[in-house]
Amino acid sequence: MKLYRAKDYKEMSRKAADIISSLVILKPDCVLGLATGSTPIGTYEELVRRYQNGVLDFSQVCSANLDEYKGLTRDNEQSYYYFMYNNLFKHVNIKLKNTNIPNGMEPDSLEECLRYEKVIDCLNGVDLQLLGLGHNGHIGFNEPAEAFEKITHCVDLTASTIEANKRFFEKEEDVPRQAYTMGIGTIMKAKKILLIVSGEDKADILQKSLCGPVTPHVPASILQLHNDVTIVADEAALSRMK
Ligand code: GLP
Repeated sequence: MKLYRAKDYKEMSRKAADIISSLVILKPDCVLGLATGSTPIGTYEELVRRYQNGVLDFSQVCSANLDEYKGLTRDNEQSYYYFMYNNLFKHVNIKLKNTNIPNGMEPDSLEECLRYEKVIDCLNGVDLQLLGLGHNGHIGFNEPAEAFEKITHCVDLTASTIEANKRFFEKEEDVPRQAYTMGIGTIMKAKKILLIVSGEDKADILQKSLCGPVTPHVPASILQLHNDVTIVADEAALSRMK
């Protein structure tokens, strides 16, 4: 594992954008695994800035997002498609046909999960998977559980995730109770993983994820077993690390 200590959110975002940019420059047709949440917003802003300055070209890049709420349409402001479109896709020259996000409106969970795994296989896998960290250690929407779920699946969101994500919705009842997410196995197949973490509220779970036992009760702890993981975290998030 490589660990970068960033001063603050801004520096974390710049460093993460450096890592993604170098891949896009060296492999213009790379497959980026993308994440949502508040943590990657600054990273996407940096990537957009670099595209506007002529440093980056996304015309051959493909992407596969980690997850999507079940039951939200693409044009719902809380859907992850809407997030990706507004924070990244519409600002750069990535081709929308090359972007992939689980289809939250597919009612047949099994069918959608198998379709999404096939999409990733057809792309020959993800070159670099960007990840945020949930307060309970979730990655994508892989919630703490008795076993690591291997492939894309439909999850029941935990009460703590619903609580954490309700800030984006008008009412708590509006937060979807289920989501489609890449499985832990899908994430671990990515050639490189980039975990970004910011803020003191993530310090405990980051310490447990990186230094605690590898257990499905802390899904991110599995990253200790991946052979090419980079963590970019700010000082606040690293405050519990010795
Ligand atoms: C959501 C997403 C995760 C994300 C996590 C943390 O539940 N499904 O992929 O990493 O929240 O979000 P934030 O970055 O806002 O703390």
